Amino acid sequence: MSVLRTKPIKDVMAQSQADGEDGGPGLKRRLGALDLTGFGIGIVIGTGIFTLTGIEAKNSAGPGVVISFAIAGVVALLAALCYAELASSVPAAGSAYTYAYATMGEIVAWIIGWDLLLEFALGAAVVARGWSGYLGELLGLPTTWFGEEGSIVNIGAIAIVLILGVVGIVGIRESSRVTNLLVLVKVAICVFIVVAGLFFVKAANLSPFIPPAEPASGGEGGLQQPVTQAIFGLDPSVFGLAGVLSAAAVVFFAYTGFEAVANLGEETRKPKRDLPLGLLGTLGISTVLYIAVSLVVVGMVKYTDIDEGAPIASAFNSVGAGWAAVLVSIAAVAGLTSVILVDLVAMGRIGFAIARDGLIPPSIAKIHPRWGTPYRISAIMTVGVALLAGFLPLSALADLVSIGALCAFVLVSLAVPILRRRRPDLERSFKVPFSPVLPIVSALACLYLMLNLSVETWIRFLIWMLLGAVIYFGYGYRKNRLARIEDGDPPVPAQRTAD
Ligand code: ALA
Repeated sequence: MSVLRTKPIKDVMAQSQADGEDGGPGLKRRLGALDLTGFGIGIVIGTGIFTLTGIEAKNSAGPGVVISFAIAGVVALLAALCYAELASSVPAAGSAYTYAYATMGEIVAWIIGWDLLLEFALGAAVVARGWSGYLGELLGLPTTWFGEEGSIVNIGAIAIVLILGVVGIVGIRESSRVTNLLVLVKVAICVFIVVAGLFFVKAANLSPFIPPAEPASGGEGGLQQPVTQAIFGLDPSVFGLAGVLSAAAVVFFAYTGFEAVANLGEETRKPKRDLPLGLLGTLGISTVLYIAVSLVVVGMVKYTDIDEGAPIASAFNSVGAGWAAVLVSIAAVAGLTSVILVDLVAMGRIGFAIARDGLIPPSIAKIHPRWGTPYRISAIMTVGVALLAGFLPLSALADLVSIGALCAFVLVSLAVPILRRRRPDLERSFKVPFSPVLPIVSALACLYLMLNLSVETWIRFLIWMLLGAVIYFGYGYRKNRLARIEDGDPPVPAQRTAD
């Protein structure tokens, strides 16, 4: 049963004790609630609202995409409540991965950690390509190097990933400052879109709000239809209520990343108070902005005419407000920068937590003595992300980010009642209301959204999970710290394994 062994919470906490003022080898505690909310918004608001809005309105939900954003927001909020409770009781790096290791067992933790790596690595790559596309559009650069059409190597995406990878590695303080500035720009532009766009909204564009269901074009069904339709043998369709739901699953991508806040538990001054505040603040602000922005966009342009590449900028262009379109594009470039940056930082932290436990070789989790960041693993993964962003057409892979996050959230939600039963003694500064009902509803809601993603997304996801299983059973299962302790071969203390 050792795949279900759990890591003692005191061990989890001991690993994060080495931080602080003494220049110890762990991560530094220097972030507060406002920094966390800034980080959260920095990673959450991005390609989801700037591009997916158009794609989903046009192809799946019509103006009903507003409802999709609301549904996805509620599901994200439920998951965030569960995250907040775990984050306030186990405030250590690695977020859901670490919580699961303390509560549900090693293999569940591995699955979550592997999911989160997928989410953040691919998230950074997808957004980097989006960034490159916006930049190319602004400066009139060729899409072969800065876009999707006829792309050979996306130089823009590679460059931005490498630059921000270095910023993240050199220090959280610097990256947090840069991020806070970009976050302000991003929130301001969302407010601008809503206020300026309202003048151009036409009621006729919003009707029908949920277009009636129609057969999927091409009728190929198959791999592109949602799993729910495949399971029930329904004819593949778009629009209608089913369209709104499948769009909700896709635009869930727009909310992914909020858990990066929880990843920073080890770098937070008062984690028990500030982590829940940071998580809920991030999601509350994003949900309101998404609903408002998407409503204005589908109100400005008939959904059938929406541009898929840069829907917001072209909405302003189409109503003759070209200056606003340029402003939106500039802000999108700035805003997407912060998403990539926080994604890369979060990815390094999760990799750090996994490597520190020996599930992957611990030598790559070494903390840099001056920068205080896990520089080796961050550097390795940054190069990997740069390659992915440079060579893969990633639009289809955005769904993979959603499915990876949703799968992790199902497990996180279930961890709340389990941890309450196993460790009622743990101090929890934030408690999910109505447990276990709310965590179970959260798990089911995430699962339901997963089932609304396409068959091909599921196939890719299962391949990624299979790869994870090979690594776990080939290396981590035997070599990790707990396994060595069981074998009577105790490893050197946690923080020293990194040295
Ligand atoms: N949530 C992030 C975005 O919308 C990944 O770009």
